Amino acid sequence: MTSFERKEKRRLFVLRCFTCGRVHNIDDYGKFYYCEKCGGLLEVRLERELRNHVKEISQERRRGVWKYLQTIPLWDEANIVSLGEGDTILVECKRLVKKLGLKKSLFVKFEGQNPTGSFKDRGMTVGVSKAKEMGFRKVICASTGNTSASLAAYSARAGLHCTVLVPKGKIALGKISQAIAYGADILQVEGNFDACLRMARELSEKSREILLLNSLNPFRIEGQKTAAFEIVEQLGFVPDDVILPVGNGGNISALWKGFQELVDFGIMGKDTKKLPRMTAVQAEGAAPIARAFLSGRRGVIDDVKDPHTEASAINIGSPVSWQKALAAVYDSGGFADYVSDDEIFRAQRLLAASEGLFVEPASAAPIAYLLKILHGRDDLSSSLFEKIKSSTIVCIATGTGLKDPNAILRNTTEAQMKVVSSDSKSLENAILTFS
Ligand code: F0G
Repeated sequence: MTSFERKEKRRLFVLRCFTCGRVHNIDDYGKFYYCEKCGGLLEVRLERELRNHVKEISQERRRGVWKYLQTIPLWDEANIVSLGEGDTILVECKRLVKKLGLKKSLFVKFEGQNPTGSFKDRGMTVGVSKAKEMGFRKVICASTGNTSASLAAYSARAGLHCTVLVPKGKIALGKISQAIAYGADILQVEGNFDACLRMARELSEKSREILLLNSLNPFRIEGQKTAAFEIVEQLGFVPDDVILPVGNGGNISALWKGFQELVDFGIMGKDTKKLPRMTAVQAEGAAPIARAFLSGRRGVIDDVKDPHTEASAINIGSPVSWQKALAAVYDSGGFADYVSDDEIFRAQRLLAASEGLFVEPASAAPIAYLLKILHGRDDLSSSLFEKIKSSTIVCIATGTGLKDPNAILRNTTEAQMKVVSSDSKSLENAILTFS
């Protein structure tokens, strides 16, 4: 594959409409964002022929996202804009396995290790590299926080002008601080995330000079799919279940695409045949995808007009990639469900205190889901739990807990953080009161 001429590599990738299947020239992206026939979302497809050219990944010298360059549609390596993203740890959680009553194994892929602290960096390194390759000078996104932090960082590194639209007063402290530090133009919109995305979409369609870098940009998905490749490399096998927090549905579709490409292109050197079940977890107050699944629907969802959850990263009522997300769930034989904010905060603490992994609230949703089906009183929950109890599970922890320090502080009681007088007797007494 390294001997490939750029021209030849180009031939191996197309853009295909997810809805109607129409094929578009990949180099024309940016002239249009959606299918020219039906307006559907576009996705990158690797041509079958790529199978004859792929090199075993184990021979790659790079680490992280760009280790998988042969499956990523970037033509010139000189355009790579990188901060060292990907190559995040996969932590086996033995103590949590016991606490949850699981029989086999549970792993957490800690995406908080990425350069700006979330999985978005996998997508942004590719999206911004591609923006550079396509000659864009300006980029824009709507965000609940992490996308804006990540785009701001990669734009700074590439020397691009970056504008971010965020819902006013609804994004976590760490995330807005990042966007400020990286020098983005920040617009605080008096509305929710869905309004921000609608505005960013409209503007980027009107002004062809500004590239939209939300996850409906197919190049972002190409970066995010690499988490699936890493999981299989790290485990040495394909897990039975992969559980993710879902907002727009971009990341679950990216990982599902990655697992499918492993089967289709054999980039792990041996023929990988198995696919995992993909499970989508949403917050109760912002769960249009989960509710569609739970009522057996695939072709339609009901948007949530006024979404609300303290897991602000996934406070989304009108998810743009819902079709792809539901396809991942249904086609993989997985599930979709929602969890309450209380369940999320409980899971966040449990993961941190049991395994030393401090994740942001949204990222604890998969653990909250396991807790929910474990303790579920109804038949459905317990039979579901029986099904996954004996499987190898990977939960994707999408962002670090440091992103949202207020969330953990808001839920901290005085009993956990005692004030003590500055004498040793008080100290001894205080220590005894901790149980
Ligand atoms: N977890 C975290 C920490 C996120 O920031 C997001 C999305 C998700 C999960 C859901 O991923 O949208 O691909 O299903 N955050 C976006 C943002 C919306 O603007 O940062 P998804």
